[in-house]
Amino acid sequence: MTRATWDTRLGFVLAAVGSAVGLGNIWRFPWLTATNGGSAFLLLYVVVILLVGVPGLLGEMVIGRRSRRNPVGAFDELGGRRFRALGGLALVASVVVLSFYTVVGGWILRYTVASATGAYFEAPQAYFAAVDFGPAAAGFHALFLLATVAVVSAGVDRGIEVATTVMVPGIVLLCGGLAVWVATLPGSAGGYEFYLSLDVAYLRANFFDVLVAAAGQALFTLSVGAGAMLTYASYIDEDRSLVADGTLIAVLNTGIGVLAGLVVFPLLYSLGVPPGSGGPGALFVGLAGAFADLPASRLVGVVFFGVVLLAALSSAISIFEVLVAYLADEHGFDRPRAVVAVGGLFLVTGSAAALSPSLFTLLADTMANLLLTVTLLGFLLFCGSVLGRAAIAEYERGAGRVARLASRPWYYAVTVVVPLFLAFTLTTGIEGLLGVPVSTAQAAALAVAVVSGTTLATRYRADTA
Ligand code: PFF
Repeated sequence: MTRATWDTRLGFVLAAVGSAVGLGNIWRFPWLTATNGGSAFLLLYVVVILLVGVPGLLGEMVIGRRSRRNPVGAFDELGGRRFRALGGLALVASVVVLSFYTVVGGWILRYTVASATGAYFEAPQAYFAAVDFGPAAAGFHALFLLATVAVVSAGVDRGIEVATTVMVPGIVLLCGGLAVWVATLPGSAGGYEFYLSLDVAYLRANFFDVLVAAAGQALFTLSVGAGAMLTYASYIDEDRSLVADGTLIAVLNTGIGVLAGLVVFPLLYSLGVPPGSGGPGALFVGLAGAFADLPASRLVGVVFFGVVLLAALSSAISIFEVLVAYLADEHGFDRPRAVVAVGGLFLVTGSAAALSPSLFTLLADTMANLLLTVTLLGFLLFCGSVLGRAAIAEYERGAGRVARLASRPWYYAVTVVVPLFLAFTLTTGIEGLLGVPVSTAQAAALAVAVVSGTTLATRYRADTA
């Protein structure tokens, strides 16, 4: 069976942007910015995206394009059987992320429909409390999953590429339209102030915490650590600049996140709703409830939740595809059979998360970030110590002159700097999971172990090459 490929370069970029732009941008990112120092945070975030996110993303893409396989097959192909477990970790991460993501996707689907009838306008709080978990939530989750299945089953170029080529421009246009429209509403000005005011003092006082939050967000939003970008890059069949593509993906992703904030906060301010403290309640209760007071309330609700739905769906298909690629490459499943098997799996895991708030919270709040970080750490250490020069060669394949100049700095970034940084952020994730503080000494020990291990491995490789 010949392996699928993207039809066009733009198709790949839009599919990857579709994966990156999701719930993380439209909801989490604006809130993180507003509550962490406004434009001062934005500046720090851009630095984290450029120094940690983009090199990490390139690391995943290098592994995918070089191997042309799914995560498990990729590590086998490039490093040997003993590295298959690293790909297995990515599969686990993708199951964890998609199992809660489809539940939220179900909520959004429900709110898109409910906006048309105004069902939640009267009592937004009670409405959300009635629909968030339970059999109906499991039902809407299943519908969202069905939409994901429909796209993925049509294939990489005919399904994912075609769908995201329509969806991503749709997100930008609708979101841009909403941003312009809310600017005309009376009282919206305070929203911009709340969102982007420069609070350097806050950032200075909480630098480390904010940095860790920014790092977690950078990984989640760029879809790295679950093998989605690895899998998408494995369908590239041309020599083109991964650096150019990766940077473009990161820039578009950040831009759409900023745009979403330019809709949310001015809207809340113009309606006199206090921004509160973020989280699902703020999206489904604060903001949704506010729609009721607008002139074209139902239309605004449908458009707003429609945008979020497109964003969530284009991300969900990328995670789903990871497992489909695995079954196809490693176990010889044809696409229809693989899609049914993966769909069946998520029907079970997602329904469990839709019925159990505690499972949902465990997956969404603790396990997802932790797994994405651990997996990416493994990917990058593999790039540095096992791939070595081959990683640099793959990075340089198709790259322009400027991008080539950055190949060594990139290599050292993914071999030492980014792993060190990830090891530090990991300690906060472990704290969250165990509920006990991890001391600075432990964090430092972990970091030293990572750096010395990588440096040694890299040196060994250079010596024996
Ligand atoms: N990037 C997506 C978002 O910001 O919502 C989430 C995501 C998609 C995470 C794909 C991981 C992944 F592999």
